[in-house]
Amino acid sequence: MKKASMTSVLISTINVLILYAKIARCCGGYELIIDYIRNCDSDNIIELSDNFNVILKPNCEVHFNGCIISHANITSSITEYTVQKNSVKMSGKKDGCKQLDNIKPSSDIEKGLDLLGLPKRCPINKGTVCLGIKSINVSKYKLLMNVIAGHLKGKSVMTTNAGKSCMEFSAKLVNSLVKVVGHSVIG
Ligand SMILES: *[C@@H]1O[C@H](CO)[C@@H](O)[C@H](O)[C@H]1NC(C)=O
Ligand SMILES: *[C@@H]1O[C@H](CO)[C@@H](O)[C@H](O)[C@H]1NC(C)=O
Repeated sequence: MKKASMTSVLISTINVLILYAKIARCCGGYELIIDYIRNCDSDNIIELSDNFNVILKPNCEVHFNGCIISHANITSSITEYTVQKNSVKMSGKKDGCKQLDNIKPSSDIEKGLDLLGLPKRCPINKGTVCLGIKSINVSKYKLLMNVIAGHLKGKSVMTTNAGKSCMEFSAKLVNSLVKVVGHSVIG
């Protein structure tokens, strides 16, 4: 091999290694890229603050930041939702208050709601809950990430006793290790 091509192979290998090392630190190689999490109706009875954000940290902690504002006391709610992963779509309808009632004591969901300071039962009182950078350790869901990795999109319309709420999100959960290795092989 010529010296020049040897050098360029060496440099590109070092580049890949640096990139790899950087990305490998994101929770087992997973990276969460949020396109948006937002209200899709300006008259939402429950709304997300403008700065609402979710970040997956290298140590497998998910950071939540922002506030959730309820403009009324919510005593009942029916949520119609659509979630989409890549081209696979799923939709359904859930009774929000019943869902809360069905959360098992000391389950991860209950612990998560506790940690975030969110209500665990209806009624949901009028007011603002600010998450103020709370984090949840998701290390034990690393295997599950493989299953849900892809382009994720969702939309929900909640019909409550006091009015409607529409929220939507779009995000990509990618395994950066696969991405980087793929790039270095394909070039
Ligand atoms: C909402 O609920 C709280 C607590 O139960 C109560 O004090 C308040 O008066 C209610 N507000 C409205 C507008 O119904
Ligand atoms: C998260 O939980 C795992 C076990 O599930 C633990 O090994 C790890 O140290 C925790 N990470 C943080 C940052 O607390």
